[in-house]
Amino acid sequence: MTRGDRTRAWVALQGHYAAHGRDLDLREAFARDPGRFASLSFQAPGVFADLSKNRVDLATLRFLVDLAEECGVPAQRDAMLRGEVANATEGRAVLHTALRAPRGVGPFSDDVHGVLDAMLAYAEQVRADDGITDIVNIGIGGSDLGPQMVVPALDAFCHHGKRLHFVSNVDGHDITPVLRGLDPQRTLFIVASKTFTTQETMANAQVAKAWFLAHGGTDIARHFAATTTNVQAAAAFGISTTFGFWDWVGGRYSLWSAIGLPIAIAIGDTNFRGLLAGAHAMDRHFAEAPLAQNLPVLLGLLDVWYRNFHGFTSRSVAPYHQGLRRLPAYLQQLEMESNGKCVDVDGAPLPFGTSPVVWGEPGTNGQHAYFQMLHQGTDVIPVEFILVKTPTHAQADLHHKLLANGLAQAQALMLGKTAEVAQGERAPTASATLDRAVLARHRSFPGNRPSTTFVLDKLTPGTLGALIALYEHRVYTSGVVWGINSFDQWGVELGKALASDLLPRLASGDVAGLDSSTAGLLARVRA
Ligand code: F6P
Repeated sequence: MTRGDRTRAWVALQGHYAAHGRDLDLREAFARDPGRFASLSFQAPGVFADLSKNRVDLATLRFLVDLAEECGVPAQRDAMLRGEVANATEGRAVLHTALRAPRGVGPFSDDVHGVLDAMLAYAEQVRADDGITDIVNIGIGGSDLGPQMVVPALDAFCHHGKRLHFVSNVDGHDITPVLRGLDPQRTLFIVASKTFTTQETMANAQVAKAWFLAHGGTDIARHFAATTTNVQAAAAFGISTTFGFWDWVGGRYSLWSAIGLPIAIAIGDTNFRGLLAGAHAMDRHFAEAPLAQNLPVLLGLLDVWYRNFHGFTSRSVAPYHQGLRRLPAYLQQLEMESNGKCVDVDGAPLPFGTSPVVWGEPGTNGQHAYFQMLHQGTDVIPVEFILVKTPTHAQADLHHKLLANGLAQAQALMLGKTAEVAQGERAPTASATLDRAVLARHRSFPGNRPSTTFVLDKLTPGTLGALIALYEHRVYTSGVVWGINSFDQWGVELGKALASDLLPRLASGDVAGLDSSTAGLLARVRA
């Protein structure tokens, strides 16, 4: 394995960037090559991707694929999929792919399918139980964001007799309004925590248990379940209905495990298995497709190209599907917790940038908020549009308008508009004071702003599973090129330790040894 910047391909890419990449103009590239869309669009299982509005050509992709080869992406991928230790700082294998492999295929199949069958049987039992109307998932990070993202995305497949609630924050403003509307006799709490030690989740679980007992609840076995690798801790909490998983499932890769229980209750056995099957189809594509046609690999390489050669620091995600409104938040953990690292696997400081800032909102809402900056701001921010061909509602007119907007935004980012063209148009509102040429400069767009467009035929359990797995493998690919461990998250530990130190000080007021800012703020919030 060789870190990206130490390869011959990296040097070749620097030359390619200086000669062609930096000045590539998308408008000219489309004018030059009528086959650009065909040659730069790719079909992976469940997901079609148009990369042609990116600042690449086929030569760029060839250099990037050379980079992946030289960094050992295929060999490392294969070792990870076999179950070798891919998370060295925690000494763990990384096998979320095993969670969606069919029975009898891949590592730990008996264990995986044993828990899956039990978890889905329990989910079906809850779905059939008219006495349970509300399910509250208490978890944070990977024990929250996956189910919280998937459940609304698959609303059309959900059991509408069950209300799903998600409590994550150690802030009483999160759990209080949820509890206010609940009847303890009709509520199931799921305490979701890989470690069963996370402060936020444990604190909220204690609040839920106290509320349940104080409101006449007695049957903890019926009204509480746990999803965790720490079955003993769940038992010590008093929960007897527990679904386990394993240390080789990372928190942000865990929605396919027992952590998916709220999803399974919402969409049922068949649809949950469809979600897994869609992800597995993408896993096979990642494992088997040649790198030049391998969509997650190409997207990971594109991220490297933009981050390390163009110097772009962020990427915006714009799902044109309201059900995917939590996808940007989900991707923030997946991408930024995985690849937000500043040392390589050997602990050497990295001389280049890693994870971009990932952010976004569903279209068209984002258009009326921050798209101004995407079109005319000083930073170039690649945008990822996600379009869905067929909706699961009957509002055809709304859907056509939604699609037209998504397509138009990608087009506008690329095409831009010169000041000359703007000057030739009648401004919608004339300025009494500004010169026409000055106004035209305000109304012009630089264009040449890159975007990727994904198209799903329909948002189903299968295509959603494929889309999420696509992102997982993309993050892995860029992580390998950057030479980092994408599967640990030591960066969250310092704040946790300091919070433990500050908690008793909040009660006592002791500020000894604190910096004056923290001491001053602590005194202020106590007062
Ligand atoms: O603090 C970060 C983190 O460890 C995430 O990686 C994880 O998804 C989250 O906390 C929740 O952890 P747990 O599932 O163990 O409660």
